[in-house]
Amino acid sequence: MYPVTVKGDRVSLREFTPEDVDAVLAIYGDPVATRHLSFEPRTREQVQATITAVTNAARAEPRTEYSLAAALPSTDEVIGFARLAIDTQHSGQNSAQIGFALRPDTWGQGLGTQTVELLLTLGFDHLGLHRIWGARSPNNTASDHLMRKLGMIVEGRIRHHLLIRGAWRDSIVHSILEDEWQATAQS
Ligand SMILES: CC(C)(COP(=O)(O)OP(=O)(O)OC[C@H]1O[C@@H](n2cnc3c(N)ncnc32)[C@H](O)[C@@H]1OP(=O)(O)O)[C@@H](O)C(=O)NCCC(=O)NCCS
Repeated sequence: MYPVTVKGDRVSLREFTPEDVDAVLAIYGDPVATRHLSFEPRTREQVQATITAVTNAARAEPRTEYSLAAALPSTDEVIGFARLAIDTQHSGQNSAQIGFALRPDTWGQGLGTQTVELLLTLGFDHLGLHRIWGARSPNNTASDHLMRKLGMIVEGRIRHHLLIRGAWRDSIVHSILEDEWQATAQS
């Protein structure tokens, strides 16, 4: 599916363009924004390579990678990076992992919650997925709170999931199933 747009009242998801490099650098180059992520802050060149990779992947057929810009609808200012990646093994492509990060000066206004809600809308309502999951650092309380609020329950802990910053890090996995999402939408 290309191009993808998922509209919310305070944030919209859209495809990345080469002009979005600096906006993404303000997130992926920031030590605070990346503190709980699986990589160290990226340089401008690395972010440029990321944007090239995701814009190429967006046009793959079949598409399995949906890396999208979270932008303010009024100005199209990009404030976040949202990703839904379809699991290509063992699930008949009915399952996907999500990831998300917003620029730190926008935190605490509900924009992160809407960004993830739009990813779930994309996955369940547009792509017809059965299961969506996310993995976070055990110390990432904001992500924990956000995912629980949207019905993504904790399903377990992956021990020593990542080798990052010279140490092994566990991940906590959250997930939501199709019927749980439909029940949320109806309540
Ligand atoms: C996680 C993140 C996207 C949240 O974005 P945000 O725009 O601040 O989220 P919201 O404003 O929608 O807040 C979501 C909920 O988390 C709560 N929250 C935010 N920060 C919190 C914290 N440090 N501790 C506990 N709860 C927190 C908010 O109060 C809100 O709950 P409420 O609506 O019940 O009050 C943002 O912090 C971020 O980009 N972090 C860096 C990248 C990252 O960690 N991504 C997740 C990887 S798994």
